[in-house]
Amino acid sequence: MSGRVIITGATGSMGAAAAEALAGQGIPVLMACRNLEKAEAVRAGILSRIPQADLAVRQLDLASMESVRAFVEGIEPGSVTALFNNAGTISKGYSITGDGFENTFSVNYFGPWLMTQLLLPKLPQDARIVNMVSLTCRFVSLDEAALQPEAGDFSQLGTYARAKRALLSFSLELARRYPALRVNLADPGIVASNMIDLGHWYDPLADVLFKPLCKTPKAGVRPALRALSEGKGNHYYVGKKCRDIPGRYIDPALDSRIWAATERLIAV
Ligand SMILES: NC(=O)c1ccc[n+]([C@@H]2O[C@H](COP(=O)([O-])OP(=O)(O)OC[C@H]3O[C@@H](n4cnc5c(N)ncnc54)[C@H](OP(=O)(O)O)[C@@H]3O)[C@@H](O)[C@H]2O)c1
Repeated sequence: MSGRVIITGATGSMGAAAAEALAGQGIPVLMACRNLEKAEAVRAGILSRIPQADLAVRQLDLASMESVRAFVEGIEPGSVTALFNNAGTISKGYSITGDGFENTFSVNYFGPWLMTQLLLPKLPQDARIVNMVSLTCRFVSLDEAALQPEAGDFSQLGTYARAKRALLSFSLELARRYPALRVNLADPGIVASNMIDLGHWYDPLADVLFKPLCKTPKAGVRPALRALSEGKGNHYYVGKKCRDIPGRYIDPALDSRIWAATERLIAV
């Protein structure tokens, strides 16, 4: 792989692991992070272990479309060859961003959607794009209304799963519209990260009983790193496998409707 890789959420468990793994292979990384102080601390940690690492840091808040636009405006055309849409969140409660989107949907779907679209003209035609999805996608269905849940529709895991399912749908439609792009999905499994603290009374119990059974961030991010490095397109990376997109997710008519609805909502 040549050129710089954008990693969103590079302050997080898997994002930081990905930045370190790529830096260790001599690949330049642009860490796109919500919290610059945290990002500088992660960068300093990686540099202490890999002094030659080429790590740039830029601010990006996926809960703000203005922040997404500002981030992309600062990207020099041709300077980036790959995008890893890694950042994600499971919101603890229902909240609406300044753009009018439910927060989980903004961070996991609308933000990455807009960022990818705006970046496209600045990327090579065969750019590598890896979108981080989740095994929860298989338990939900998607339609246009799901993109804008009402307070009564909200549940932590359900809303998260639908936002990831929407990201999956976007990835497949993106690959159809831009066949030269190498768009892949990565599913990390269940990883011991901040994300699985759902703010419940039983979180401390889960820390002791459940987290030790989960993958480490380093292991969880391996499918995404393979997706980035292998340079194929339209595959689903999970565990050690690189699979065809599972049949349950193939629905071009749905993907096209979700794309159109998103375009209307974001007003690209
Ligand atoms: N952990 C799992 O079991 C699991 C399973 C399936 C899929 N995934 C997916 O894997 C990806 C990485 O998750 P993780 O487990 O490494 O979680 P994590 O440690 O909580 O990292 C999440 C990252 O996303 C960033 N983020 C959150 N809100 C943001 C916003 N508004 N704008 C920009 N960045 C924002 C966080 O930034 P801050 O540091 O500022 O909070 C952090 O860097 C996510 O997409 C997640 O959905 C995780």
